[in-house]
Amino acid sequence: MNEPTDNGSQDLATHDSHASDVTLPGEWPTADIDHHLRRTDTDPRAHDRAVRQVASMFILSGVMAIASMVAFVVVPADSVIEIPYIGKIGGLNAALGVTFGLAIFLIGAGAVHWAKKLMYDVEVVQERHPMKSSPTETQHAADIYQSGKRQSGFAQYPIIRRTMIGAMALVPLPFIFTLRDLWITPPGVSTPSEELLYTMWTPGMRLVTDITYLPVRADDIPVGGLVNCVPEDLKAVEHEEGNLNARAKAAVIVVRMKPEEIQSQQGEGWDHEGILCFSKICTHVGCPISLYQQRTHELLCPCHQSTFQLNDSANVVFGPAARRMPQLPISVDDEGYLIADSDFKEPVGPSFWELKEEY
Ligand code: FES
Repeated sequence: MNEPTDNGSQDLATHDSHASDVTLPGEWPTADIDHHLRRTDTDPRAHDRAVRQVASMFILSGVMAIASMVAFVVVPADSVIEIPYIGKIGGLNAALGVTFGLAIFLIGAGAVHWAKKLMYDVEVVQERHPMKSSPTETQHAADIYQSGKRQSGFAQYPIIRRTMIGAMALVPLPFIFTLRDLWITPPGVSTPSEELLYTMWTPGMRLVTDITYLPVRADDIPVGGLVNCVPEDLKAVEHEEGNLNARAKAAVIVVRMKPEEIQSQQGEGWDHEGILCFSKICTHVGCPISLYQQRTHELLCPCHQSTFQLNDSANVVFGPAARRMPQLPISVDDEGYLIADSDFKEPVGPSFWELKEEY
């Protein structure tokens, strides 16, 4: 068998797994079959090159781990890049994915390359034996461990050992580093909870029908009718932001009932002649709702059957939702089209940790 020498290189000239009948402690007897030496077993230059390649992959892995942390800091969270055939994706996601993905991949690639090119390469015979470990077998296992340590060259190649340890020490750091977002928000940037407190509705903004983006005239909505609406500026905002976040918060339903059927509202005069506007996003876990029973004035969520009484401040009358559907104050403009009088007065959608108790 080929034995590693003390100077960090293998005894390449005599590397032949079947050249010796001596079996060292912890090693299996070699199989009596043809064995083909690898190039790294016979060519010192190929051997040294493989060592450098393995070390380079571990070093590069560490560099990529550091690069992912740098990307997390310097790449804006709202940056967008376009990739041919895929489309637009978040720049920060792409940067983190590429750098951290390479950091993990290069550790694996380095380990595989190390095993295939440099570790002990020999076919062995492993006899079956009883499962119970005897003291002799325990000692044998310890011998195998020591042998594996010697054969892998873990002690023999200090540069590989150190670069691998360095790479594996750095790879977990990005996970810890990203926790920084839990308590640090850059100046001028909204916290995640602040983002959830507001939608894009502003005073005077017209309600337009979803999909067609046509303004909605109050006189066109019959009693008992329901219209799915969005803000008139939504299309432009979606185009600018490159995502559907604004839609997810601002989508509303408009229903009309006889004014005398309204028992209570979330604000004085928030309707227009019996026309009421509510968030479309269920306060349970956020399903869009537009199942409306006009005779009972109940709004039913298809996901988990939460039911909201729209003619009584949209309070919850059934199901797992913990709070009412937020109402949007509306009126009409000079041309008779429905407009918002303000943003929602309470957050839309599912509850979140920072929500105040009164909601
Ligand atoms: S999401 Fe509406 S009831 Fe669960």
